[in-house]
Amino acid sequence: MELFFCLFIFFFFSPSGNLYGADGGRMPANLGTYDVKKFGAVGDGRTDDTKAFMRAWEAACGSSDVVKLVIPVGIYFVGPLKFDGPCTNSGTLTVEIQGTLKATTDLSKYTTPHWVQFGSVKRLNLIGGTFDGQGAASWPLSTCPKEKNCKVLPTNILFMNTVDTVVTGITSVNSKFFHIGILGCANFKSDNIKISAPEDSPNTDGIHVERSSNVALSHLSIGTGDDCVSIGPGNSNVTLTNIRCGPGHGISVGSLGKYEGEGDVTGILIRDSTITSTTNGVRIKTWQNSPSPSMVSNVTFDNIIMNNVANPIIIDQEYCPYSKCDSSGPSRVRLSDITFKNIRGTSVSSDAVTLHCSPKTPCTNVVLEDVNLKYYTGEVSDGHMILTSSCLNVKPTFRRTHEPPPCK
Ligand SMILES: *[C@@H]1O[C@H](CO)[C@@H](O)[C@H](O)[C@H]1NC(C)=O
Ligand SMILES: *[C@@H]1O[C@H](CO)[C@@H](O)[C@H](O)[C@H]1NC(C)=O
Repeated sequence: MELFFCLFIFFFFSPSGNLYGADGGRMPANLGTYDVKKFGAVGDGRTDDTKAFMRAWEAACGSSDVVKLVIPVGIYFVGPLKFDGPCTNSGTLTVEIQGTLKATTDLSKYTTPHWVQFGSVKRLNLIGGTFDGQGAASWPLSTCPKEKNCKVLPTNILFMNTVDTVVTGITSVNSKFFHIGILGCANFKSDNIKISAPEDSPNTDGIHVERSSNVALSHLSIGTGDDCVSIGPGNSNVTLTNIRCGPGHGISVGSLGKYEGEGDVTGILIRDSTITSTTNGVRIKTWQNSPSPSMVSNVTFDNIIMNNVANPIIIDQEYCPYSKCDSSGPSRVRLSDITFKNIRGTSVSSDAVTLHCSPKTPCTNVVLEDVNLKYYTGEVSDGHMILTSSCLNVKPTFRRTHEPPPCK
């Protein structure tokens, strides 16, 4: 993630006041079901169903007890959808999508850079559905891979300031920009998510998590043009398990240290995953010349298989995705208690283990245990390349197997 979601907070607002009228007396076990078709949605893939969706959402959001919004089988052509709370549900608010949502390609319709947004909702339970961002038309317009101050295109699905969210079985394809953003959320669980976009599509990060706590994501299948998953600033207690990542740029903590006052990152566990044909494997990346100090601590990568990956293990505290970045000062992000454990498979670059920490804040307690990486000799045969480990401003502990050999 070459760009930061914190920019988005400036665009975000939630409706103030009570839009939904007074809530009548509480009815016991009242399951209010709202079907978008009853609110006028057509679902033929051509008619603009945005207004029907928003009418159905307002009714569901204003309902009490246990609420369900249903989007039946069909293809729904929609512009930006603001599923914002606060809502009046006391139980779960389920959104069940049996069909496919197809995004408009008319960029003038997006007043904020998000397509489907869930904001300030509690106890949301999102089940199923395909979110087709139709990004191909806008990818050539993106200047973000080259410029810092670019115009950000819409993210497919954004969760913003939600509490107690469960997401299962959703598919996101061809987002214009990021696929899924999880921003400022507390207690977020998700299982069985599929994400795909072409390898050369710009900034189509799979899942970006920022300023969130207690996040558990599992069974993610992600092939895209940027990071499969990125864990940005201000996160605590984030666990990712069973990720199939590739193609893309791998799994990242960062990028960090670009903006003033970024929150610390702590308690990150990424385990039981397979990374295939990516430009990085597991990575921590921070910018140079950070405007203010921050910390990253207790990060563990455990049981990761690398297939044909460039830079399988990398700490990069001189991160620069452009041809030139501000390098007038060192990174001020302090890294400690970082463990890479049981990481095995193949590398396509000789730099199998790169641990380049900041001269201002050397890394402490970096542990590599049972690392076994071999040069990939699949289709190409350019002889035997020797894999290496490279360390700067860090004295890592190497335990048990360490192939390539430890840096001196
Ligand atoms: C960490 O997050 C998980 C998943 O959301 C949650 O079950 C667990 O209680 C959290 N741990 C702490 C110490 O908050
Ligand atoms: C480190 O983070 C993991 C995952 O969030 C958590 O389970 C563990 O308790 C943390 N350890 C320490 C020492 O904080």
